[in-house]
This record gives sequence, C-alpha cells and structure tokens, in this order.
Amino acid sequence: ATLFSAVAGAQTYPDRTVTMVVPFSAGGPTDTVARLVAEAMSKDLGQQVIIENVGGAGGTLGAARVANAEADGYTVLLHHIGMATSDTLYRKLPYETLNAFEYVGLVTEVPMTIVARKDLEPTDLKGLIEYAKANKDTVTVANAGIGAASHLCGMLFMSAIETPLVTVPYKGTGPAMTDLLGGQVDIMCDQTTNTTKQIQGGTIKAYAVTSPERLDVLKDVPTAAEGGLSDFQVGIWHGIYAPKGTPEEAVNRLSEALKVALADPNVAARFAELGTEPSPQSDATPEALKAKLEGEIARWKPVIEAAGEYAD
Ligand code: MLT
Repeated sequence: ATLFSAVAGAQTYPDRTVTMVVPFSAGGPTDTVARLVAEAMSKDLGQQVIIENVGGAGGTLGAARVANAEADGYTVLLHHIGMATSDTLYRKLPYETLNAFEYVGLVTEVPMTIVARKDLEPTDLKGLIEYAKANKDTVTVANAGIGAASHLCGMLFMSAIETPLVTVPYKGTGPAMTDLLGGQVDIMCDQTTNTTKQIQGGTIKAYAVTSPERLDVLKDVPTAAEGGLSDFQVGIWHGIYAPKGTPEEAVNRLSEALKVALADPNVAARFAELGTEPSPQSDATPEALKAKLEGEIARWKPVIEAAGEYAD
C-alpha cells in the first residue's frame, strides 16, 4: 500500500496547468507581480501557472471568481491589501473574506507613489495639496475601483488634505496609467511596480513615495513625510489564496513553490528594479498570510469608517 500510495502520491498535485487569477487588468502592478511569481513557481512545480485577469469592483470580482472555483488546487488568486479593505468597504461581498479561502503565503509589500500627468502645474507635494484644494471640483484622481490599493491611497490622501476630489475608476491601474500618460486624468496614487519606469522616464510627475524612507530607484522623489504628510505611509502587501477546501497537500506544495519563487534571483532583481522586494521566505506560509489578513482587516476598518466611503 505504501509503495502504491507513494507512487500515486508522486504523480499527484500538480499534474496539469494551474490558473492564477489576477483581480485587475493586465499590465498593472498586481499583474506585474503575479507574472513574475507565476513564472518562478512554474519552474518549481513543473507545470505552467497561467494568469487570468478578472478585473472589476476593486478586485472583489476576481476574488469571488476564486472563492467559488473548484477547490482542487488548480485555481489560485494573487491579491493584495484590497482583500482586507474590501471586507469593510463592501457591505455585501459575494464571499466571506475570512471563510472563503485557504492561505498559501505572502509575496511582497510594494510602496506607493503619488503621481500626476507630467504637465500638472505644482512642482512639489505642498503645491499639489494647495492646487487640489483650490480645484477640488475638477481635479481627477484615477483608481482601480473601491477596494483597490489605488483607491485606499487616494482615500487616505483626500482624508489627509480634508478635500474630496473627483475619482475616476478603472479595471486596473494599467489602463489608468494610459490615461495619465495621455493627460486624460490628473493624479493617481499607485504602486512603484507600475510607476517606477514612467517616473524615471519623465513621462509622469512624482510628488511623493509612501515608504518611510526614499527608495533607491526613485532617489529624487521625497517621502510623503518630507512633503508635509507626516503619517502618510502605506505598503501594499500581496498574498496567494486558494478556494476553501483545497487539499492540504496542494496548498503546502504551492507554499513550497512560492518559497522557491521568493528566493529566485530573477524575481528579486525585477522586484528591485520596480522599487520593491520579495517577502521573506519564512512568510511563504498559510499562517503568515492568515495573520496578515486578519490584522489588516482590523487595522483598516476604523480608518475606512472614519473616511465614511463605502461601496453600495
Ligand atoms: C490597485 O489595487 O490599484 C491595483 O493594484 C491596480 C492594478 O493592479 O491594476
């Protein structure tokens, strides 16, 4: 029996392609992180991990797609802080955040940048805040829908300057970046995984980074604190989930492959170019992601309730 089960076990999970759902459009920061990690995981798993972009409703449609998928280990979700904030922002979600998923592990925590179309007049964060207050009925802020990281950061910015601005939702900040580059939208708070190259290329303007210290790849961009927003810090952590009921053997094998991906030199190099770094391998565990999600739901709930913005 043991030999048979060993042989059978050796041929089991994964024996075919794994689908990794990205709950935002292709070309955005979440998609960028997912494609790098999926490629490295594929090598370790010996099966392709392919990306499926399911955008909409700030990432909650993609999360629902996986919550309701077959719990066989062949559909997973790569999502970020939005999994936590959506739990408060949406009065009725099509899934129970803390009861719909198995946890694979943490992936990376990405800083954000407050950016604008390149010809916006203000030359620093103080000037941008004055400009936004003086033009609050016309300044447009792009985001990827209520529950997106860009939405959270935009909400924090509007709360910090005590001024509501006009928000423009997209299915991801990939498409939003296209409009920012084209001058169709004024400002955005987005992750360095999507803005670093444009800032370095001068095709958009950067006013601040939301990290405690300046970033090596964006040395000339002041921190929000330097610009006068003292406690304006937000890091966008990412995790990989599977539908509740996914066999433990599959979840553990995925955690192993994630651990290998986090140590992959190509992943580390590409993340570094984009202003971020892999999470520690020790966080590529179900326990680490579960603890992070529970803690972040509790942390952001009062902040969101104070801002008073909800999805209907
Ligand atoms: C967001 O939450 O803003 C997403 O990261 C946008 C995206 O990945 O397209």
